[in-house]
Amino acid sequence: PRVVFSGVQPTGIPHLGNFLGALLNWVKLQQDAKPDDQLIFSIAGWHALTLPQDPKALSAARREMMAVLLAIGLDPERSVIFHQDENPHHTDLAWVLSCITPMGKLRRMTTWKSRLATSRNARDESEVDESLLNAGLFTYPVLQAADILAYKATHVPVGEDQQQHLELCRDLADSFNRSYKSKRPLFPLPQHVITPSRRILSLKDPSSKMSKSAPDVNSRILLTDDAAQIKAKIRGAVTDTTVGVTYDPVNRPGAANLLTILAACMDEDVTEVAKRYHGKGHGHLKKDVTEAVQELLKKPRAEFERLKGETDYLSHVSSSGAAKARELSETTMREVRERLGLI
Ligand code: TYM
Repeated sequence: PRVVFSGVQPTGIPHLGNFLGALLNWVKLQQDAKPDDQLIFSIAGWHALTLPQDPKALSAARREMMAVLLAIGLDPERSVIFHQDENPHHTDLAWVLSCITPMGKLRRMTTWKSRLATSRNARDESEVDESLLNAGLFTYPVLQAADILAYKATHVPVGEDQQQHLELCRDLADSFNRSYKSKRPLFPLPQHVITPSRRILSLKDPSSKMSKSAPDVNSRILLTDDAAQIKAKIRGAVTDTTVGVTYDPVNRPGAANLLTILAACMDEDVTEVAKRYHGKGHGHLKKDVTEAVQELLKKPRAEFERLKGETDYLSHVSSSGAAKARELSETTMREVRERLGLI
């Protein structure tokens, strides 16, 4: 049986990249799961703390993320849905793993390298603004590995930006298995489950991915955007001046991104979708993308609006999810402690 694990940070309403690259795939995996497959989805509150957060806003975002996960169709009867910060085994295991993680590996993580780059003084490259860096940012991927390994997950559905973190997780699992040998290896090496829309690009700058933190709000479509907002954002999406539509991610990333979004909404192959737009203009494509995204988000948005006020229900789901999660990871932690001699 498969053990599927994934997570999302409670740092605001998810955007179309999060939805198409990961969350929608979680729902599909839930639909296609065999009866004995285990599905575990977590809201990574500890990870959010690596950047400064306003406590009130974080508390609201945390609750909203739970509402989002239910609104898109995750079923708490079928999947374990919980707040990472409500299961202490994650940080316990993160410590154990950090003691077998070479610093050099963490230094090579692209997310760390880009943080380091932004904290470098523009004039003097060798000078780093230490106040922008913290140990949590550095060890972030170790905690993520612990999230996954605490449940001995075999499959991890995430976008392309998480690939390197997942490779580290596999390395750590392997290195634990080798260091603490027993009859069987303790951790399976988890696989990356990736969708064709593994990397949705910014609508304003197709050289970078759609992200929660980009300053221009028109660069991303949020799960809660209404029909008019979706229309305006797609109308303003950057394409190119070449006549006609072709799927050419290297030379025409803006148009390719719209085709990727359309294909994901229709659950079709992007090259098939692209064929239908030969000889048509960008305006035509944008109109169809607009309608498809409006349709895709209609139900989740309405469900979110309904659920976000249901605070009792949300806290009930959270606490029963956390209880189930703790029960599952308890078994792993007992085995970890046995192998380490901490028993
Ligand atoms: P987060 O919250 O940044 O993103 C959640 C998911 O969305 C995917 N994603 C994208 N996919 C396609 N195109 C994009 N533009 C795009 N932007 C984001 C991400 O790949 C991710 O799957 N560290 C994780 C959360 C986490 C986690 C875990 C994931 C914590 N523990 C354990 C897996 C397993 C994060 O920050 O995701």
